[in-house]
Order: sequence, then C-alpha cells, then structure tokens
Amino acid sequence: MSKYRIAWLPGDGVGRETMEAARLVLDRLGFDAEYVHGDIGWEFWCQEGNALPDLTIEMMKTTDAGLFGAITSKPKQEAAKELVPELQSKELVYFSPIVRLRQEFHLHTNMRPCKSYPGNPLNYKDGIDLVVFRENTEGLYSGVEFHPLPREVFDVLDKHHPKMARFKSHGLDNIALSTRIMTRKGCETILRSGFEYAKSDERKTVTVVDKPNVLRETGGLMIRTARAVAEDYPGIELWETNIDAQCMWLVKNPGQYGVLVAENMFGDILSDLAAQLVGGLGFACAGNISDDYAVFEPTHGSAPKYEGMNKVNPIANILAAKMMLDWLGESGLAERLEKAVAEVIRKGKTRTYDMGGPNTTMEMAEAIAEVLS
Ligand code: IPM
Ligand code: MG
Repeated sequence: MSKYRIAWLPGDGVGRETMEAARLVLDRLGFDAEYVHGDIGWEFWCQEGNALPDLTIEMMKTTDAGLFGAITSKPKQEAAKELVPELQSKELVYFSPIVRLRQEFHLHTNMRPCKSYPGNPLNYKDGIDLVVFRENTEGLYSGVEFHPLPREVFDVLDKHHPKMARFKSHGLDNIALSTRIMTRKGCETILRSGFEYAKSDERKTVTVVDKPNVLRETGGLMIRTARAVAEDYPGIELWETNIDAQCMWLVKNPGQYGVLVAENMFGDILSDLAAQLVGGLGFACAGNISDDYAVFEPTHGSAPKYEGMNKVNPIANILAAKMMLDWLGESGLAERLEKAVAEVIRKGKTRTYDMGGPNTTMEMAEAIAEVLS
C-alpha cells in the first residue's frame, strides 16, 4: 500500500498537460502515493450540468489531499449556452467548481507564495519573497447574489439602510446585487493562518490589506480582528494598508513585504499582481487549506488557446505539488523539489515560451526531473 492517497484532478485545458508534468516530477522524486482520478471541469458542466460531480466529492473524502490542474470558468449566460440541448431548459447556473470545492471542503486558507527565483528572466525585481494569505470561502465569493433584485430584498434593505433610497427609481430589473459577507471567524482564521506562518517562517511583519475607509463594516471587522489577533504574536508587527495603495506599493517596493492577508476578492487581485512580479502565472502556485484537508493548484486558468500544444510553463503546477508535499509533512521531498526547480531556472538552459525559450511543458518537467535523479 502507498503511504498517501492523492485526489488527481487535472480539470481541463492546459491543466491536463501541467498535471502530467507534475506527475513526472513527483514520480522521479519517489513520492509514495496512489493517485485517484477525479472528474472535474468544463466538459462535465456541458454534459451533466455539474462541473464538480458528486462522485468526485465523495472520492476526495477518501484521500489525504488533492492536486488540481486548471478549469475553464465562464460567466452565467455564456456557460448556459454551452450545455447539451437536453439541459438547456433546466435553468442550471454555472458555479466555478474550484470555488465550490473551497466552500464544500471548507478550505478556508488560500496560501499563495511568490518568490523571485534567481535567474528567472521574468522577475520584475530580485529579492521578492512574499506570501499572500487569501480568505477562501467568504467575502464577495459567498455566492449570495441577485439579478433582478427581489422586491423583499429591496424592501428590507431600504427599511434598514437610508442609502438604499436612491436606488428606488431604477426598477428591480435594473439592479444587480453581490454581497460581501464576512464573519469574525473567517477573518480570524485567515489572519491566524498568516500570523502562524509568519511566526514559523520568522517573518517580521504581517500586512492586512482591505479598504476600511470605504467598506466600513466588512473592512472594519477585518482590521479590528487583525489588531486583536496581532496581540497574540508580540514579535510580529502588524501593518494595515488599503488595497489600492497596496497594489501601488507592491509594484514600488515588493521586497518590503513578507506576509499579506486579505479577504477573498482582494486576495484574488493581490495574488495575481504578486504573481506577475515573479514571472507571471507560470510560476504562481496555491494551496487551498483547511484544518484537515487541502487541495493544491497552479493559480493559472485553463488557457484554452494553448490546449494540447505542450507549450505552457508547468512550474506553477510543479510548485503546487511542492506545497502539497510540505503540507503532508514531507518537507525533505518538498525542499529537494524546490531546489531542483530553482536550479533549472538559475541555469536558464530550459525555458518555456513565457520565459522567452523554445522548450515544451514536458521538456521543462524533464529538466527538473533530471536534477532530481
Ligand atoms: C483564482 C482564480 C479563481 C478565483 C477563478 C478561476 C474562479 O482566479 O484561483 O485566483 O477567482 O478564485
Ligand atoms: Mg485569481
């Protein structure tokens, strides 16, 4: 029997290729695992009206962790048009399977490290080594949305909030509402994830990023919770910033930041910005982590235009596998893998198209595996 049972979730588009690359490297590393394939992604939406079939969820519950490739996500109307004809009339609503996974498994912490590996021609600056902790289950991703706005919802908001009155004249059909629901527990959990990481990785600061000057209630809750949590970590300084200014400062002084904590949507935006500072989505990996389960993924999407071309950079997916090894407690293997990736980047002999080179997805994986053998 293998030591670990891993849910293997390639998804669609280039996800299948980057996962194959990750597998080559994991096998070469000698990671002792049994991989169980799970259906997930666009074709299951089109055929079955469910991009995350129940069977996949049940299968995942029998595993130690999951490794995920990529999925296509489309807005509501576009998604509905691609359903098979039998499902067209069922009024099914597309919901991103990765967002559903995060919520179903209560994967509250999305950890997104961004490091400028020496020798990467795409580094914006050298010396960047930051980690974004993105709240992963609430905020603007809660999924409580309306269009048109139901009369009762309008009335209740109007009754309880004077600022609703000026929307009265628009008509309910012309109002869309997405809610940013944040709980004290959600804020506290993501903040503790950030602080715990800062403590174990000997980082001196944690920056909480929100917009409490405008989003007074949700942003306010986040900042007040941050101050309370920070008291439990006396050696670590809490910095408080606004999302807009933080984006600017990340471009200006990326080396100053170590751990950034944000709610779901702001964390989504910040982590793409941070990824671009260290080479773009080809290098950006993520861990969706709960107290007892986790799913690791490259941050990039399914890049349909590159599908089947063996072209995209698999490093993000390979670094996601590295994060999975760390989370499973296999830090020796994780370290070897990261060193191998760093060495291939430093040598610069193997480069995928994004890095200005001629090499394929699998050639990059081979080069990394070569260092491991
Ligand atoms: C990410 C992605 C997802 C998100 C999409 C694919 C739903 O952008 O993981 O950052 O918005 O969370
Ligand atoms: Mg994103």
